[in-house]
Amino acid sequence: MEGRIETVQNEPIARSELYPFPEGWYAVAESRELEAGQLKERVWLGRSIVYWRNQHGDVCVADGTCPHLGSYLGPAAGGRLKDGNLVCPFHGFEYDINGKCVRARDVKPPRSAVLSRFAVTETCGLIFAYFGQNADNPRWQTPVFPSDHSARGIRKMRFRAHPQTTSENSVDVNHLRQIHGYSQIEQLRETEVCGPFLFSSYSFTRNMLTLGLRKFKLSVEISIGVWGLGVSTVAISTGGGVSVRQWVLSTPVDGEVIDMWLVVDIRDLPKWWWLKSILRPLASMVASQVMVNDLKLEVAKDAVIWDKQNYRSRPAFSALDRDISMFRRYCEQFYSQVA
Ligand code: FES
Ligand SMILES: [Fe+2]
Repeated sequence: MEGRIETVQNEPIARSELYPFPEGWYAVAESRELEAGQLKERVWLGRSIVYWRNQHGDVCVADGTCPHLGSYLGPAAGGRLKDGNLVCPFHGFEYDINGKCVRARDVKPPRSAVLSRFAVTETCGLIFAYFGQNADNPRWQTPVFPSDHSARGIRKMRFRAHPQTTSENSVDVNHLRQIHGYSQIEQLRETEVCGPFLFSSYSFTRNMLTLGLRKFKLSVEISIGVWGLGVSTVAISTGGGVSVRQWVLSTPVDGEVIDMWLVVDIRDLPKWWWLKSILRPLASMVASQVMVNDLKLEVAKDAVIWDKQNYRSRPAFSALDRDISMFRRYCEQFYSQVA
């Protein structure tokens, strides 16, 4: 029809050619979500997993399939804990926190009845598990920071993306201008790769709104740490004495969507006279919520792009993309074992 603009509906979106589950540490749960004696389940890196905490506080993260006859071990199928051990709903085999079958009702536990486990780290109120070839000997550890925050805000999102493309944004300076509207961006530290880690640092200026009324410019310095593709941290400081640590945690779910957890830890606030000590905890709590909401709004802008982005293995790089090509070389190590 003359003059009509066709919009293409239902065009299939090419799947990323990247293997969806790169080696690395990925978030499983918040520590506060898993009390002693609790068994939980979720889909994580394309498989159903179970995780539990025994009465001593130890955590096990394991594949949700029983090594006996393959029953699902999650609570949805009747899996339960007994004295800190996981009991399979099918024939009652009991697995301890190390995944070993310690009881099999009336028979001797078969030696090969061992749960397939993932290495676990619990740090800063977060539980991570390692996906890689050698679960007992991960190639690296998650970052360990002191618990020096006075308040935490956390938001959880799910959208179509790959953990490599979400992490790549850390070094994509160009998009900070275009998507997030930052200006006066300067690199404070050359991007540096140290084995499974990558570090970089920038300063920039952001336009902020106070209660939607008054615009002001905020100068920000950020130091980025990429600790594999599931865990990134951003240390943020602003002129007024605000110090914040952000965690950006990308966890593949089924090979198509990821769970992205955004964590904002307030480490310091300005020492203004009116912010007396009795008000500081409240101010920290409010700041953590305001900042994590702001972060979620910014990530939502990225998610619009990620949702329909097709990974280009041979991109038309511009002169501003030097760090992206460095980042991609850094990423290659996470596929050599698992893809
Ligand atoms: S399938 Fe789990 S005990 Fe038999
Ligand atoms: Fe972004």
